[in-house]
Amino acid sequence: MSPVDVCCLFFICVLACCWEPAGCYASGKVTKVCGSMEPHHRGPVETTPSPYSLETNTTTFSPTDRIQVILSGTSYFKGFLLEARDAADQSSASAVGTFTLTNPQRTQLLTCNKHQGSAVSHTGDVSQREVVVTWTAPTNASSQSVVFELSGPAEGYVSFALSWDTWMGNDDVYMCVKDGARVSVSAAFVSGRTHPEDESQSALSSVLWRLADGVIQCRFRRPVKLANQEAARYDLDQEYFLFVASGYAEHGLVWKHSLQPLISTQRKVITGPHEVLTGSRSPIIIKMHGALMLVAWMLTGSVGTFIASFYKSDWTNHSLLGQKIWFQVHRGLMVLTLTLTIVGFCLPFFYRKGWSEVHHARKHKNTQAHTHTLIFWLFGNVWVVL
Ligand SMILES: *[C@@H]1O[C@H](CO)[C@@H](O)[C@H](O)[C@H]1NC(C)=O
Ligand SMILES: *[C@@H]1O[C@H](CO)[C@@H](O)[C@H](O)[C@H]1NC(C)=O
Repeated sequence: MSPVDVCCLFFICVLACCWEPAGCYASGKVTKVCGSMEPHHRGPVETTPSPYSLETNTTTFSPTDRIQVILSGTSYFKGFLLEARDAADQSSASAVGTFTLTNPQRTQLLTCNKHQGSAVSHTGDVSQREVVVTWTAPTNASSQSVVFELSGPAEGYVSFALSWDTWMGNDDVYMCVKDGARVSVSAAFVSGRTHPEDESQSALSSVLWRLADGVIQCRFRRPVKLANQEAARYDLDQEYFLFVASGYAEHGLVWKHSLQPLISTQRKVITGPHEVLTGSRSPIIIKMHGALMLVAWMLTGSVGTFIASFYKSDWTNHSLLGQKIWFQVHRGLMVLTLTLTIVGFCLPFFYRKGWSEVHHARKHKNTQAHTHTLIFWLFGNVWVVL
């Protein structure tokens, strides 16, 4: 059974001091408010920090594990209602798990959602400062967090991202970055083809890392859904393209990856069935660009030029469609070269859907280099055709 995080659960407690016994439930039989957990005491809303706190003796648990929960205060309280809820499902008002009492004189179990022992309350109007109970995780507590493990040979960092598309930008990124002899593990958001922003560790728990022989390994846990849902963190139960990248880092700051990231060929649900994914560093359209350019320049172009240079004196008595054979073959090959080159040249623009913009500086430079070579080849070809 995989362990589930306590951060997937939160213990809620409502404390109330009963000043007017007539309007209160000094008996603690407050199952009426199991769902809302509202004390229904007329009075001003508390705006100062709560003087009461809830503590647990562990931050992770597996089904049927027992966790000690301590409710304590810097001032006394008389009434309280304690429930555990699924943090991943904030809309649900159901209490999960079962409590066991350590002090049955002062505390009692309640039946919320028809589930015996799913809440705890006071038994009378005695002032107390600490309540200790044990909470037992439900047997069917399904794993609502995901453990990620990344490793790879890298000088600086390994990272992966969840993306709605195969483009960098608006991605939820998780990075394991070497910083001296340590590895810092963080979550970040990449809004464009830029440096990751808003790095934080708030969503991550059970972080482990190892750095040896040039290999970075890291491991962390993230809830499937986050309690205070930040726009930058995606829910893990949706379909995403997965990116894996690595690169150089200096003083804990990442540089642009030296290779294109590995991108899954399809969108995948991380919480779905186990599967070995395949990915590619370059999309098929860019591979076709490379293949067409290679065929055009290394095969048809060269052979065409070769024929024009060395075969003019052969087959002088034969003609093909009214022209010398060498010329027809040569012209055919050159036209093919030109066609392949033009098609190949256009493919990256289809891929990029237009000219690269300023922040695509690196790509732009490549395209310019290609343009120069192309013009050179066009001149070469035209010369030979003439
Ligand atoms: C937490 O407390 C419970 C109940 O006392 C106990 O069974 C459990 O082993 C404790 N867990 C840890 C990690 O100390
Ligand atoms: C676990 O079981 C309880 C009742 O036994 C049910 O209300 C709850 O929905 C179940 N939770 C899951 C995650 O299956």
